[in-house]
Amino acid sequence: MLIRFKRNLEKIAMGLLSFMPEEKDVKKLQATIREYEENDHLHLHLWKEGDDVLGAIGVQTVNDNQLMINHLTVNPSHRDQGIGSQMIAEIHRIYADKYDIVPSESVKAFYEKAKDDKSQP
Ligand SMILES: CC(C)(COP(=O)(O)OP(=O)(O)OC[C@H]1O[C@@H](n2cnc3c(N)ncnc32)[C@H](O)[C@@H]1OP(=O)(O)O)[C@@H](O)C(=O)NCCC(=O)NCCS
Repeated sequence: MLIRFKRNLEKIAMGLLSFMPEEKDVKKLQATIREYEENDHLHLHLWKEGDDVLGAIGVQTVNDNQLMINHLTVNPSHRDQGIGSQMIAEIHRIYADKYDIVPSESVKAFYEKAKDDKSQP
């Protein structure tokens, strides 16, 4: 299930975000997590199964109508089990009433694939 990021999960969230190609640099990663803590337009959600946090999806309200998925990452030991796709589906469930949901450039390829897979019979 998706849970909201809290400060006590900072280390695990940073570990997950560091798998994004643009978050390899520690300084950049620290700035990113601070943004999620302080900027009201940014929301980080974590994927929890039992006691384990296995993924992260970060979104930004671009304006009153548009929400962008900026970060999407899954623990390497738990990939290819549908967690990335489930996180996207949950974000749609939470936000699609109010916002058009769009992927950032780095999330786009996976987002389009996840969407196409869902539309298969
Ligand atoms: C991308 C990512 C979040 C997918 O998570 P996941 O839980 O493994 O995703 P799912 O199990 O729902 O889907 C797996 C499928 O997506 C494909 N896939 C993985 N990364 C992809 C990408 N960047 N673009 C397109 N397809 C991708 C896999 O090959 C697999 O395909 P298959 O079903 O045909 O075998 C995960 O690979 C990850 O954390 N990558 C590192 C972070 C990253 O690069 N993020 C930016 C891209 S979102």
